[in-house]
Amino acid sequence: MTLRISVVGCGYLGATHAACMAELGFDVLGLDVDRERIDALSDGNVPFYEPGLEPLLRKHVESGRLSFTTSYAEAAEFADVHFVCVSTPQRDGDFAADLSHVHRVVDELAPLLTRPCVVVGKSTVPAGTAEGLAYRIAELSPVDDAAELAWNPEFLREGHAVEDTLRPDRLVFGVAGPNRRGEPGRAEDVLREIYADPIAAGTPVVVSDYPTAELAKVAANAFLATKISFINAMAELCEATGGDVTVLADAIGHDPRIGRRFLNAGLGFGGGCLPKDIRAFMARAGELGVGEALTFLREVDAINQRRRERVVEIAGELLTRPWPGSRIAVLGAAFKPDSDDIRDSPALNVAGRLHLHGAHVTVYDPQAMDGARRLWPTLHYADSVPDACAGAHVVLVLTEWQQFREMDPYLLADVVEQPAIVDARNCLNPAKWRAAGWTYRGVGR
Ligand code: UGA
Repeated sequence: MTLRISVVGCGYLGATHAACMAELGFDVLGLDVDRERIDALSDGNVPFYEPGLEPLLRKHVESGRLSFTTSYAEAAEFADVHFVCVSTPQRDGDFAADLSHVHRVVDELAPLLTRPCVVVGKSTVPAGTAEGLAYRIAELSPVDDAAELAWNPEFLREGHAVEDTLRPDRLVFGVAGPNRRGEPGRAEDVLREIYADPIAAGTPVVVSDYPTAELAKVAANAFLATKISFINAMAELCEATGGDVTVLADAIGHDPRIGRRFLNAGLGFGGGCLPKDIRAFMARAGELGVGEALTFLREVDAINQRRRERVVEIAGELLTRPWPGSRIAVLGAAFKPDSDDIRDSPALNVAGRLHLHGAHVTVYDPQAMDGARRLWPTLHYADSVPDACAGAHVVLVLTEWQQFREMDPYLLADVVEQPAIVDARNCLNPAKWRAAGWTYRGVGR
């Protein structure tokens, strides 16, 4: 019989996972405590921007393979496998991860698990969490160790979430050792059954214990963050020496041991994952008594934060007037293109700093306007690039949307007061902009 799946937590990760599990052929029940979210998803509407997700959601809501609920009892009754996809944000007031959602899910679900099943954690958690949850499930569940726990971290990128879920570049299965009677668990086989299609298509599987699986997630994000801060540190060196960091990235990126991907210098990383994950990782290392192993991540974080101030400085250098009274166009509010996510967005952080200097800041983003307005109601907002740039003394490109890469410098020169542009993502062709009469400044070039 085909496995039935529940997905607990229908945010960005869970909603994508639920739709993709239905696409892989399973009957899926999504669970969230947010009634409004569940109503939207049940109507086939995705409450955030993720290319390709809405058609997939609609397809499977209509086929009847995918439905949603707010009831834990229903999910427990329905599914053989429960995926835990709730968020683990940075805790208020410190660096550690807030695990309250994960704990709540286990405390609500476990007492209702009355038949053999596998609970699969996907949320990003500090190493050591899974073991504690496994004990908690054994303690609360009426079926004892017939309710198993596995850890299967997700590595999906916003903007590519569907593709990354259906065709992941690797699968990590963190499973428990044999139970008290010396019998092996079923979790690995169950996960292999669920991911049979991507595995058949060649996705490698790494089977590990719990802590390795938990670490695989944060180690990957720490590495990516380090790669970005490394090239941003090189951008500082390029600015000091007159070098060009984009060419430097090509020069070192051709070495396959280094690789060119994730070596784009600019405004640095933001979003709901990289910044909070490296901080939670440092906090956890400290608790484990190995804080020194990760002190370099403090530097990674500091380099990243410096980018924001540097871009503000460059804007100031281009202005021929004081901040108050200057008009600045900010293109981009999302933390990266193809997303409406503004969590820890470097773009909005810079926009806010410019505003606090006294400038009149007008923001345009193709998708993230609603969120930006809520977070920064004191900024001005325009409905298009030309509207945002009308009368501007300087234009800043802070998120590299395709639409911004393709802007016509001649047309835009007609609407601004002063043709000066800061390309904080190094995504424009400097020669083209200079030829059209613009003062162009990238970062690290
Ligand atoms: C990141 C990881 O890439 C995923 O593998 C991981 O699953 C996810 O976090 C997560 O933990 O859930 P995501 O936050 O969607 O994914 O975004 P990325 O594409 O990694 O970009 C992160 C930030 O780095 C963005 O602000 C982006 O603009 C910046 N970045 C990226 C650079 O500044 N330079 C680069 O070369 C690449």
